[in-house]
Amino acid sequence: MELLNGKEISGQKREELSAEIKMLKEDGITPGLAVILVGDHPASRSYVLSKQRTCKELGMHSILTELPDTISEDELLSAIETFNRDHDVDGILVQLPLPSHISERKVIEAIAPHKDVDGFHPLNAGKLATGEPTFVPCTPLGILEMLKTKDISIRGKQVVVVGRSNIVGKPVGQLLLSEDATVTYCHSKTENLAAHTKQADILIAAAGRAKLVSKEMVKEGAIVIDVGMNKVDGKLCGDVDFEAVKEVAGMITPVPGGVGPMTITMLMNNTVLSAKRRKA
Ligand code: GUN
Repeated sequence: MELLNGKEISGQKREELSAEIKMLKEDGITPGLAVILVGDHPASRSYVLSKQRTCKELGMHSILTELPDTISEDELLSAIETFNRDHDVDGILVQLPLPSHISERKVIEAIAPHKDVDGFHPLNAGKLATGEPTFVPCTPLGILEMLKTKDISIRGKQVVVVGRSNIVGKPVGQLLLSEDATVTYCHSKTENLAAHTKQADILIAAAGRAKLVSKEMVKEGAIVIDVGMNKVDGKLCGDVDFEAVKEVAGMITPVPGGVGPMTITMLMNNTVLSAKRRKA
């Protein structure tokens, strides 16, 4: 078994991005990311701070707007509109989830598609679905980057995605389909889940259920990508029973230190991409 070390792989990608940022700055462009955090959900706060820190480390411009969870939907929409109009902002990210009185759909649709570095806007989601990707969601893009960096072949391979969220499950399947994989989606209503997962050459666990994937569900030598971020007894735990599955997997991502660092790096990648389009 080989560990797919997301920290290491994302470190290489960050060096490439750092060089690109330096070049953009020589042309007078500093890539800028605006992050909006509503309320004080501890996990969201920690993700947002980590995004900010990475921006600074790479020499990017970053703005954090913190709003109370009592804010109205209209106030949030107008904060987004201000960033839509700000020429120094290349990417806008509203951290999810949002308080229940605010429509996530309306908020996502308010972000200018050319600044939607999360790739959640229906226009960008549609472009991925039709095979002309513009901004691809960061976790799926991070998974692809990991596979490519490790020279893992995707064409013709059986990929099984467990989970069908708009943020990870659906887009990662579409992205790997565009790389010529044969893709199967499984979810909470799938009958005989193990019969499907056992077929996977590349198994992506993105269901949000701690240790859902057991050793018996994995084919010998499979590549296992764990997107789960579950808290169990105060400890971060993936969707894969790592200790057991590592005995059968060919390669496996740990949690933490697997997909997580890749996600943040690909957010930086999308923001740099947006800044480059500023030039065009
Ligand atoms: N909440 C959990 N993951 C994400 C993400 O990738 N983007 C945003 N905006 N919110 C999230």
